[in-house]
Amino acid sequence: MTQPAIELIGIEKRYGAQAALAGVSLDVPAGQFVALVGASGSGKTTLLKTINGLIAPDAGQIRVGGEDAGAAPPHQLRRRIGYVFQEVGLFPHLSIAENIVITPKLLGWERARMTARVEELLDLVALPREVATRAPSELSGGQRQRVGVARALAAEPKIMLMDEPFGALDPLTRDSLGTDYRALHDKLGLTSVMVTHDMTEAVLLADRIVVLEAGSIVADGPPGALLASTENPEVRALLEAPRRQAERLRQRLEAAS
Ligand SMILES: Nc1ncnc2c1ncn2[C@@H]1O[C@H](COP(=O)(O)OP(=O)(O)O)[C@@H](O)[C@H]1O
Ligand SMILES: [Mg+2]
Repeated sequence: MTQPAIELIGIEKRYGAQAALAGVSLDVPAGQFVALVGASGSGKTTLLKTINGLIAPDAGQIRVGGEDAGAAPPHQLRRRIGYVFQEVGLFPHLSIAENIVITPKLLGWERARMTARVEELLDLVALPREVATRAPSELSGGQRQRVGVARALAAEPKIMLMDEPFGALDPLTRDSLGTDYRALHDKLGLTSVMVTHDMTEAVLLADRIVVLEAGSIVADGPPGALLASTENPEVRALLEAPRRQAERLRQRLEAAS
């Protein structure tokens, strides 16, 4: 058995009386693409932030690449893990290139290496190299989200955490970014955990779907097997939604032709 890339053991986090995470245990093998789904407030963001040390759990253990994540300083952990935020969060006064190399700069990379890395990353996320000198405001929402992915990949992490990365985009852009990201995941041999509200996106992109409800995992499995294996009515409704939509879409398109 190879070491899981991410191991969570009995993670608990509460805010006052409210349990954001009520004892979550999860192993993510290296190379897996996990979609983390669940209603608003179910603890998805708290779980991602716990993995990269932005939030310290009240109880439980986190291991990243086999090492106790609590033992190392949090900033060291964060440099080994790429994180794509829901709201992108590019610095408006910095150029695209400067935004991308934030972590390499902290790591003290040479200027030439950073310049080469920016070009490589722009190619990787399918952005033209001339956007390097632009300000974030001069890019479309989809292009900015690609920069967010490039920035998260800058220091060559093997683990990527993404919090509803494509949530604010139009459906076409979202679809192409999702497909492109999945290809990158495979090409770079990443381990990815992506939070999404969109069950269709989860089914289409992920190897495994983990469903959170009120801070607990209520379903966990590959997209195809999950529906058959769960008794939880809310999880079933969530999983059946893409199938129902696809069926309705097919009927309407057939009726129209
Ligand atoms: N900083 C905070 N202070 C107080 N409560 C919080 C804080 N962050 C999250 N929570 C609460 O924890 C629960 C889980 O939040 P979150 O992880 O953001 O959920 P999700 O990302 O699934 O929408 C929610 O009830 C939320 O209100
Ligand atoms: Mg959230």
